[in-house]
Amino acid sequence: MCGIIGCFGRGDETLDTLVHGLAKLEYRGYDSAGVALLGDEITVCKTAGEIADLRDALRSKSLSGHLGIGHTRWSTHGPPTDANAHPHLSERGSVAVVHNGIIENYQTLRDELTAAGRTFTSDTDTEVVPHLTEQGLDEGMEPEAAFRAAIERLEGSYAIAALIEGVNAIFAARNDSPLVVGIGSDGSTDDTTTGDGDQVFFLASDVPAFREFTADVVYLEDGEFARIDGTLAVTDRDGTPVSKSIHTVEWDAEETGKSGYDHFMLKEIHEQPRALRQCLRGRVNELTASVDVPDVDDISFVHPGGGRGKFSGVQFVACGTSYHAAMYATQLFHEAGVPAQAFLASEYATSPPPVGDNLVVGVSQSGETADTLSALREASSRGGQTLALTNTVGSTMNRECDHTLLIRSGPEIGVAATKTFAGQLATLNLLSLATAERPASRRSLVPALRELPGQVQQVLDESNAEAVAEHYADARSYFFIGRGYQYPVALEGALKLKEISYEHAEGFAAGELKHGPLALVDEETPVFALVVGDGEPARKTVGNIKEVEARDGPVVAVTDGRSDAGRYADHVLSIPESHPRTAAILGNVQLQLVAYHVANRLGRSIDRPRNLAKSVTVE
Ligand code: M6R
Repeated sequence: MCGIIGCFGRGDETLDTLVHGLAKLEYRGYDSAGVALLGDEITVCKTAGEIADLRDALRSKSLSGHLGIGHTRWSTHGPPTDANAHPHLSERGSVAVVHNGIIENYQTLRDELTAAGRTFTSDTDTEVVPHLTEQGLDEGMEPEAAFRAAIERLEGSYAIAALIEGVNAIFAARNDSPLVVGIGSDGSTDDTTTGDGDQVFFLASDVPAFREFTADVVYLEDGEFARIDGTLAVTDRDGTPVSKSIHTVEWDAEETGKSGYDHFMLKEIHEQPRALRQCLRGRVNELTASVDVPDVDDISFVHPGGGRGKFSGVQFVACGTSYHAAMYATQLFHEAGVPAQAFLASEYATSPPPVGDNLVVGVSQSGETADTLSALREASSRGGQTLALTNTVGSTMNRECDHTLLIRSGPEIGVAATKTFAGQLATLNLLSLATAERPASRRSLVPALRELPGQVQQVLDESNAEAVAEHYADARSYFFIGRGYQYPVALEGALKLKEISYEHAEGFAAGELKHGPLALVDEETPVFALVVGDGEPARKTVGNIKEVEARDGPVVAVTDGRSDAGRYADHVLSIPESHPRTAAILGNVQLQLVAYHVANRLGRSIDRPRNLAKSVTVE
């Protein structure tokens, strides 16, 4: 939700490094921002608004110090105001804190601290942390002990970074909210050594904040504390040192820039061919029609017609776009004869079904979504085996689940999930092919998967989505319909459009339209119909198109041209002929472009839509 950055060892560059890191993290939250530097004393600058507003505010403020912390916020407690922006200071200003997450017992702590004479200046839950730390200092505790004692009082989720006057260090703690330490060499290259010498340390909610300085990272775990003071010391809750491994991030800093595109979302839509190649590389072999996914080697399913396996079925848990991917996945497993269900993660956690001997798969781009984590933990606590299907190495899901299957899409900065949805669908195909499906389906699907990146490129090169978007940009409402594999894509098309254009959009199973939503269709309600192939599902969907036409609803057919959908449509968005499963990915690219161009024409904040955040780490 919020973005945290810390920097130690960049001397006079510290402030610039912090602000630059915040700009890289702005996708995590963007309603207020701030920084604090530690010199002889702690100095802070913070403001409501975006990083650009923080840069403006810094022009009239003098901050000094060679280590610091920063924050970009997505409000949970209190509106986005200067006072609620982080960092938050203690009564005397001797402690500064930035925080991501929610402190559930903050009201009790705040009442207690207020009764003890401490004055609060914000509405946030975070502010209790600097006050508690300073209270410890006032009682004579050593700085690190005071910080640890403050953290011990917290209930809830947190990634916290703190500065304490008089100590040349950044203190950090995590519980249920990501924090990663980057370790670089002095200077600004990533030819890092991790041994002796002048080292630079970064602390962040996510790697893009410092990737251009180093690829070497240490992921902090729940319950761990870090002290960065020229070396990195990680300890557990009891203060026992924890030995940490250094991981190397495999993607480049350029992948977190816009590369000439107006928006990250458009760039990421166009990165899909490459992302899909990365996803499939080394995992499918067209010659032998085989699939090789070592990460899931020890996963197998009991088949109705015989065949021994470890799991009798699969339960998917996910949110938003990832839930649409999960819905798609259930059909893959059904076709393979394996029972599968998709659950909204928040509902799974609220009312958990029996886990039995199902594999429980969390589908999540970030690997940090609180609802999905909660569902996976619920499944684990009931003895279920879990698998994280995620884009994020080192994420909490990656570390907590029994198995991980990476989608390999590369970093996604736009709040709207685009290339990661394509990556999820492709990877879910790999999962079903590797663990559940028979050779016959492999023979038809493997070539389709291999062709997919090229076909996505073809759609991107030839799409008329911008003209279609232009035509319908003033519509009152947008409907999306599809059957089978195209149904989750209809839902996804609607989510994408509403998320970034703020216009009303709904997706339906094509067959459901006549059971209620058709009452809303009129000449101002374009219906985007996904029609693939020339079989029964396509014929039925063409029937639904005719029902829309009869009510004067404009129709946009997203089709491979094998049915006569185009004949009845007002506009056509073409996709190449392919397997129904890969056609879903191709049709989705057209709908991503429609959403993008409608939002762009309406002048929306495409990469950072209002009220939303990239990584939703609260339930
Ligand atoms: O990181 P996750 O895939 O777990 O995120 C789940 C949803 O929050 C996410 O897909 C959200 O719906 C996107 N903003 C959609 O574009």
